[in-house]
Amino acid sequence: MAPRVALRPATPADIPFVMAVERIPGHDAFINLWAEEEHAASIAGPDHAYLIADGPDGRPAGFAILSDMRDVHGNICLKRIAVAAPGQGLGAPFLRAIGGWTFGNTAAHRLWLYVVATNDRARHVYRAQHFAEEGTLREARLNPDGTRTALILMSLLRREWAARAAGPAPMIPTPAIPAP
Ligand SMILES: CC(C)(COP(=O)(O)OP(=O)(O)OC[C@H]1O[C@@H](n2cnc3c(N)ncnc32)[C@H](O)[C@@H]1OP(=O)(O)O)[C@@H](O)C(=O)NCCC(=O)NCCS
Repeated sequence: MAPRVALRPATPADIPFVMAVERIPGHDAFINLWAEEEHAASIAGPDHAYLIADGPDGRPAGFAILSDMRDVHGNICLKRIAVAAPGQGLGAPFLRAIGGWTFGNTAAHRLWLYVVATNDRARHVYRAQHFAEEGTLREARLNPDGTRTALILMSLLRREWAARAAGPAPMIPTPAIPAP
């Protein structure tokens, strides 16, 4: 059975955890990392939402950063997601909770993301949560070693989430997205 995760909005006190997970060896092949000032500005501003997944032991186990929170077309971006211990079954319930939070608490129409084409594990997790692959951005990611990798654009629409959501969304207040 998949481990349970409890989703909560992050506070500035969670930034060291976020930065530590960003810097886990190997994660840099798949996610970008920010300096503390960038996180501090983003978490305080209206355009990002930071979410923490607390694991079964009640300790932070993963984080997600949503961006474009005020997009007038209702396209919210899952900008970054990472767990501290990949491969232990947290990703699926975490992603389900992120979908529930996004569509349950904002006016989002579409939750979208880029995933590095070679990130087979993440692509598997997204597909399993009904994200559709929409296209390929050829050679779009510049890797730390100077090579380039394609990015895959994926998204989940509100109606797809509603049709497949397993349970009620956790209600956490968030600023409303202005109508187009
Ligand atoms: C992506 C990430 C959040 C997923 O979370 P996770 O806890 O590792 O995922 P889970 O353990 O819930 O599930 C992993 C699934 O991928 C599958 N998997 C593992 N390696 C795989 C591979 N190389 N190819 C295909 N599938 C793979 C597992 O079998 C499992 O599938 P199942 O649930 O059907 O059994 C996590 O791996 C992570 O933080 N990775 C580093 C950062 C990253 O890549 N972020 C995504 C950026 S877009």
